[in-house]
Amino acid sequence: MTDVMEVEENAKASPAAVDMYEWREGMPWNPVERVILERRSVRKYKDKQVPERLVRRILEAGRFAPTAGNSQSWKFVVVRDRDMIDAMQKYVQLRCKVFKFFLNWQKSPLGKLAWFYTQLSARVMPNLLHPIPFGAISLIAEGKLKLFHDAPTVILVLVDRRGAAKPLVDVGICGQNMVLAAHSLGLGTCWVGFVEVFKFGTRWKKKLGVGWPYELIEGIALGYPVGNPDGMIERELQEIEWWEDGRKRTVF
Ligand SMILES: Cc1cc2nc3c(=O)[nH]c(=O)nc-3n(C[C@H](O)[C@H](O)[C@H](O)COP(=O)(O)O)c2cc1C
Repeated sequence: MTDVMEVEENAKASPAAVDMYEWREGMPWNPVERVILERRSVRKYKDKQVPERLVRRILEAGRFAPTAGNSQSWKFVVVRDRDMIDAMQKYVQLRCKVFKFFLNWQKSPLGKLAWFYTQLSARVMPNLLHPIPFGAISLIAEGKLKLFHDAPTVILVLVDRRGAAKPLVDVGICGQNMVLAAHSLGLGTCWVGFVEVFKFGTRWKKKLGVGWPYELIEGIALGYPVGNPDGMIERELQEIEWWEDGRKRTVF
């Protein structure tokens, strides 16, 4: 049994106690830990708008994220307009159809040319063409996966490239602050990396304020989840190298 599993077992045994800012042997997960561990990505939302006050509270959680040099290197764009969200989803679907046409070289009528294009793209953008986003391109193109999962509110997070040191890290922390705050308020979220596709659309870039120094990095779909998708899940453990007392050991 790993340490993590042991704490989980203890948590089940004593569900009543809730502590913050202190630790006792065998205590259950505190509310912050629970919010972190039980948050899941939500891909089905109720047709019910999130009150503006809640969205503002979530943005506040983002604003309080730590940043290198306190540079707060981001800009938020909030979209709550159903027609605009639909239009954004449609645009990305269309783009994905084009990507699929070029990248799915085994089935492309372009034959060798498509193969060459795929090879080149995979080398230029190895992370973006990792098998998972590659598969998602097809799903979006076929209308089986919607960009924002039809969420009623979308928070777009733009990085300010003038930020100190590592603005992309700042933006990631900021986004996660918002996602966790939303979850703690009973809302569901899903990170949407596919907003990257808007960089191919001049009209959208202009509308969303993308352009030096702002680059669109992530979207966060936000709304009331259908059902209860949250909860603790099994997650693959990875080796951790642990140095102490002059020697290294491997823990999980
Ligand atoms: C940077 C980032 C980008 C993501 N982009 C997408 C996306 O475009 N569409 C989507 O449905 N999920 C997206 N996800 C959600 C992941 O698929 C999800 O976090 C992962 O499968 C783990 O599941 P969990 O969030 O429920 O723990 C993204 C997550 C992150 C952190």
